[in-house]
Amino acid sequence: LKIGVLISGGGTNLQALIDNTLNNTIDGKIELIISNKASSGLKRGELAGIESLFIDSRGFRTDEEYNLRLVEEFKKRDIDLVVLAGYLKILSKEFIKEYKNRIINIHPSLIPLFCGDGYYGERVHAAVLESGEKYTGATLHFVDEGVDTGPIILQRKVEVEKDDTVKNLQQKVLKIEHEIIVEGVKLFSQGKIRLEGKKTIINRGGA
Ligand code: GRF
Repeated sequence: LKIGVLISGGGTNLQALIDNTLNNTIDGKIELIISNKASSGLKRGELAGIESLFIDSRGFRTDEEYNLRLVEEFKKRDIDLVVLAGYLKILSKEFIKEYKNRIINIHPSLIPLFCGDGYYGERVHAAVLESGEKYTGATLHFVDEGVDTGPIILQRKVEVEKDDTVKNLQQKVLKIEHEIIVEGVKLFSQGKIRLEGKKTIINRGGA
């Protein structure tokens, strides 16, 4: 499986994928990493000897043109699966069409809770604490035209404890993100995830 990864920030989810492709837990290879920011995550790719590009979205007249450039780079490398790992821009319709059902995103909440516009990074965890919810967690899902609305692949939850702060809740959730992003990409690489309309069917049986 040829994997392309989009990031915007620190890239700890990317690091989990790097570690688990290099050790063959995931039957695939990260062929290209692109960041829309000169992010520290790109360093992680470089250290792993993976082609890592900073393509500044501000260099393009429109988002559509920026996304066409991303598609071009991924097509050039025959990418089979695009992973959004802490990527904070919305993909264009063309991009989503080109990679229909082959784009997955990790989100730091139990979708449909605390997702959609404005819910990213620490704001998610602040809202969870504010809400008094007993649990939170992370969601791995296919990307469709909406924001955080595509078919859910995996979710895992964690208890919210009364003395939790935004920071330590973010750390607890990040740990889960790393687990399910690796598990989800592994299942995808084994062809064990099937899509039926808006539902994903995971075939866990077999070798
Ligand atoms: C994480 O909370 C992720 O879920 C969100 O971006 C944050 C940063 O992730 N999409 P990373 O450390 O850059 O992978």
